[in-house]
Amino acid sequence: MDDLFSLQPPTPSQPAADAAKRVHELREFLHYHNDLYYQKATPEITDAEYDQAYRELEEWEKKHPELHDPNSPTQRVGGKPLDSFSQVKHLVPMLSIDDVFELKDAPVAEQELIDFYRRLQKNLAQEEIPVTIEPKIDGVAVTMVYRNGSLEYAATRGDGQTGDDVTQNVRTIRSVPSNLFGKTLPTLLEVRGEIFMPNEAFAAMNAERDEAGLPTFANPRNATAGTLKQLDPKIVAQRPLAFLAHGLGAYEGPELATESDFHDLLDALSIPRNQPLIHAKNLTEMLNAVARINHERHQLYYGTDGAVIKVLDREQRASLGFTSRAPRWAAAYKFLPEEKETTLYDITIQVGRTGKLTPVAELTPVLISGSTISRATLHNQSYIEEKDIRIGDTVLIHKAGEIIPEVIKVIHEKRISETFKFSVSEHLRGICPTCSGPIEERISLSGPLSKRRTIVTHYCINFECPDQLVNRLIHFASRKALDIEGLDEAVATKLVEEKMVKTPLDIFRLSELDFANLMLDAATLSSGKQSSKRRFGNERAIKIVQSLAEAKTAKPLSRWIYGLGISQVGDTTAREVSRLFSKMSDLPNSQLLAQISERGIAENWVKNHPASPKFETINEEEKTRRKTIARDLRFKIEKLKLSLAEFQISPELGGVSAKNLVEFFNSKAGHDFLQHLDELGINPQSDNFAPTPTASQNGDSKFQGKLFVITGKLSKDRDSMKNFIESHGGKVTGTISSKTSYLLAGEGGGGKRLEAEKLNIPIIDENFLQNLLDEVASQNETI
Ligand code: IVH
Repeated sequence: MDDLFSLQPPTPSQPAADAAKRVHELREFLHYHNDLYYQKATPEITDAEYDQAYRELEEWEKKHPELHDPNSPTQRVGGKPLDSFSQVKHLVPMLSIDDVFELKDAPVAEQELIDFYRRLQKNLAQEEIPVTIEPKIDGVAVTMVYRNGSLEYAATRGDGQTGDDVTQNVRTIRSVPSNLFGKTLPTLLEVRGEIFMPNEAFAAMNAERDEAGLPTFANPRNATAGTLKQLDPKIVAQRPLAFLAHGLGAYEGPELATESDFHDLLDALSIPRNQPLIHAKNLTEMLNAVARINHERHQLYYGTDGAVIKVLDREQRASLGFTSRAPRWAAAYKFLPEEKETTLYDITIQVGRTGKLTPVAELTPVLISGSTISRATLHNQSYIEEKDIRIGDTVLIHKAGEIIPEVIKVIHEKRISETFKFSVSEHLRGICPTCSGPIEERISLSGPLSKRRTIVTHYCINFECPDQLVNRLIHFASRKALDIEGLDEAVATKLVEEKMVKTPLDIFRLSELDFANLMLDAATLSSGKQSSKRRFGNERAIKIVQSLAEAKTAKPLSRWIYGLGISQVGDTTAREVSRLFSKMSDLPNSQLLAQISERGIAENWVKNHPASPKFETINEEEKTRRKTIARDLRFKIEKLKLSLAEFQISPELGGVSAKNLVEFFNSKAGHDFLQHLDELGINPQSDNFAPTPTASQNGDSKFQGKLFVITGKLSKDRDSMKNFIESHGGKVTGTISSKTSYLLAGEGGGGKRLEAEKLNIPIIDENFLQNLLDEVASQNETI
C-alpha cells in the first residue's frame, strides 16, 4: 500500500483500463485505512494523506462515470435526497423479542427471567443450557445485506416482513463497512444489528445545537430514529451514527457451526459487533451476568436499557423454534431507567463560549447513572415554559444519553405553594450576569412548517466577558482543537481570573514560570474529597509550554479554525474550510465565504416565505411581494451556485457556518485575533488544500480535453495558473508529449520550448490563452 502515492495522478491520455486499476487501488487503500481508523482505532496514515487519496479517487470517478460504485469510500457524504423510502421484503423475517421482562416490579421480573431459563430446560430436556448475555442497545434495528462482500442494501425492521430501504443513509455511517475483505467471503451475508448514536457524540451534537440556538434531541434513540428517517442523506452524513451487529439473518457461505463462528466471521470482516458478550453455562451464571451488565452499563459508550439473553447453540435454537412473532430462544431483561426526584432550588444563568446565556437548574445533589448530579441545563426560556418549571419544584431528573443531566418533568403533586416562576429576560434585565455587558435576544424557528415553534435565546455580546473567555479558552485548548495538554477548566478559570489572558491567543505569551506559579483553587476530586489550594507546578508547566510551541508551528489550519469556537463551525466544517484556503490570512474578506453565506441566506428566505403558504394566511399584496423577492433571489441563488460549483463545497460548510465565519472575521474580535496572530508570527497552514478538486466537471469546460504544459515566468504562480486552467476544464501536466495541446510559456522556459517545437506543439502566451477562452465562449453562444 505504501507505494500508492508514487503513482501518477490521472491524465486524460491514460487508457480506461489504467483508470479502472487505479480506482480499484485507491478504493482498497481507503477501505483499508477506514477500517484501521474507524474499527480498529489504529490509524497508519495522516489525515492529509487520506484526503489526498480520497480527492484523487473523486477525480477519477468524475472522469470515469462508468466506474461508479455506490459502495465507494467517496459515497459516505450522501447522495441525492429521496422522495420517499422504497420497501424491502426481508429475506428472513425480522423478528423481535417477546419475552421482555421489565424491572418495574423487581422481584417479579427476576422471577420471569428464572422462568424463561426453566422453560428452556424443560423444552430441551437438559439442566445446563449455555446462553450469552449482552447489553440491549438503545437504538434502531436494521438489517444489512452483503452479496459477495459488497453492501447491497440496508433496511429497517418495519412490520418484520417488510421494512424501509435506508441504504443511502446507512452508507454514510463510517462504522458500517461498505465492502468486505477476507479470504473466504460468504456469497450472502445478512447482518442484523442496531444503529445508534454514541453517548459522547450525542452530547457534543446536542451541545453544539444548543449553543447555536437549535432544538436539542431528547435522547440518543430519538436522535437516531429521527436521523434515519431523513430523506436527505447529506443530513445523515453530518450526524454521528454508529452500528453494532448482534445477529445473523440470511446466509450462504462457509459453514458456521456455532454462534462463536459467526462472531469470528464478523471480526474477520471488520463488522463491529456488540460487546461485552458474556457466556453463561447455567442459571446462576446467567443471573450474575445480567446483574453485571446492569452494574457496568453506565461505562458503555452507548445507551442501553437492558440485557439480551440468547441460547448459544444453533441446533438448540432451531429445536426451540419460534412463536408467531418471536424466537423462543431469546429474552430481554429491561433495567429500571435511572430517574430520580430532587428539588430545584434555584435557576442560574451560564455563559457559553459563543455568549449564549443558558438557564441552569440548581439541584439538591443526587446520584444517577454512576455520578452525582447537582445541575441540569434548561436550554432556554421556551423550554422552562413548556415544562412549567418553577423554582422550588420537585423534579424528576435523568441523564440523557448517560451524560447530559436533564429535567424530565415537574412532579406536580409535590408542588409546594411557594414556587417562583422564572423568566430569563426579566432575570437578566438586559445585562449579562457575569460581565454586565449588553445582551441580545435572538429568535429562531424550529420544527417543520406545520409545527413551527419560536425559540427565544439570549446572548451576551461582550466578546471580553470572562465566562465566555474561560469557555473559549477551554475549547481552544481541547483535543480536537490545539490539543494543549494540561489546560483544563481549573487552569483556564484561573488564567482569566488573574487577568493573565484576555483572549485565547494570550496563552502564547505566557512563560513556563507564569504557568508554574498559578495557584489553583481547591477542587472536588474524583474520589469525592476536597483538595486544598495548590500550585500548578513545574512539570505540568513544561508540558503546557511544549504543547503551545507545537501548536504554534505544527498544528494545521483546520484545528485553528475549529479552535475559534464559532457557532456551527465544528471539526468537519473546519476541515472543509481548510480545504478551500491555504492559510489563515486568506480567510478574511474571502469572496468564497461571502458567497456561501449569501446563498444560504437567500435559500432560507425563499424556504421560509412561501408565496402560497400552507400554514399561515397572507393577503394578495404579501403574496405578490414574496413572489417578486423569491424570483430575484432564485436568480441570485443560481448565479451563486454556478460560481461556487467548481469548489464542490460539502454541505458541512453551509450558509450558517459561512455567515458566522464571515461575521467573525469582520468583527473587532476577528480583526484583533488576526493582528495578534500576526504579531506572534503565526499563520496556520492548510494540510488538505485542494479548492477545485474536479473543476472540469462543474466549472465550465471550455478547455475540456485540452492538455497544457506550463513553462517560464507568468503573471500568476504555477499553482494559480494550474487552478485557472483546471477551473475551465483543462488539465496541466509536467512533461511535453505528442498528446500535449499547448505549451503555455512565459519569459524563459527554454528547454520546454525546444521540445514543443520539435513535436509541433503550439506555444502560446497568456493573452492567447485568454483569447482562446473568449473564442470558445462566443462559439458556444452561437450554438
Ligand atoms: S437479539 C430475534 N441483541 O431489541 C431478535 N436484539 O426487543 C433477536 N436489540 O428486536 C434480537 N440490542 O432490535 C438483540 N444485543 C441485542 C440487542 C437487540 C438491541 C433490539 C433488537 C430487538 C429488540 C428486542
